[in-house]
Amino acid sequence: MLFLDAARFAENACLVTQHEAAYRDMSPRQVAEQAFRMADGCLMSAKKDGIVHIGGFLGMRDSTLAERCELLLIATEGIPTYGGLAGRDLDMIARGLTEVTEPCSLRARADAASHLARLTREAGIAIVEPPGLHALYLNAGRLLPHIAAHRFPGHALASSSISKAASARWNWAPSTLAARTRTAPRSPQRPTSWSGSRSPDGRTGSAT
Ligand SMILES: Cc1ncc(COP(=O)(O)O)c(C=O)c1O
Repeated sequence: MLFLDAARFAENACLVTQHEAAYRDMSPRQVAEQAFRMADGCLMSAKKDGIVHIGGFLGMRDSTLAERCELLLIATEGIPTYGGLAGRDLDMIARGLTEVTEPCSLRARADAASHLARLTREAGIAIVEPPGLHALYLNAGRLLPHIAAHRFPGHALASSSISKAASARWNWAPSTLAARTRTAPRSPQRPTSWSGSRSPDGRTGSAT
């Protein structure tokens, strides 16, 4: 049985048109339609290629299997008719799933990712090539050559980045911010907005 993780279905379809000769003349939407025709079902986190802020779904052809999934959902999520998603959110998903395959929308994402990839390469940071459409992947194996693959350099890199980012975040009081801006005027580490989370010392505000 083939189930697609459809979270990035449009971007994947777009990459297929770019990298696979047999699909070069097809649109991303046509490629996606072909993939879904072959599948028995899919699971979708709509926050990605549904271009919505919340929601997702399981889709499948087999109605008996769907009934079994609904029974399990009662234990894990609640009764489906309780309305986990408001009608407004369902409307947004329906719209997003169509708009996401628009070539101009995909091109904008691809351009943003390749711009970021260029800046990252110029900074001497190894990435997995080629970059994706929605993300870059740091090449942890090359960035941390002293950590063997079986010791998971990717996890080490992620943990270290999160820990550094978290300590930088708590240090972003306005006074330290001003000091940083003075010492590094060309790239101030300035939070672009302050949200309501509270730092350990009681100050509100987090950089987003
Ligand atoms: C391909 C893919 N599938 C599934 C998920 C999980 O989505 P969620 O955060 O809604 O659980 C993600 C999240 O990044 C994803 O990239």
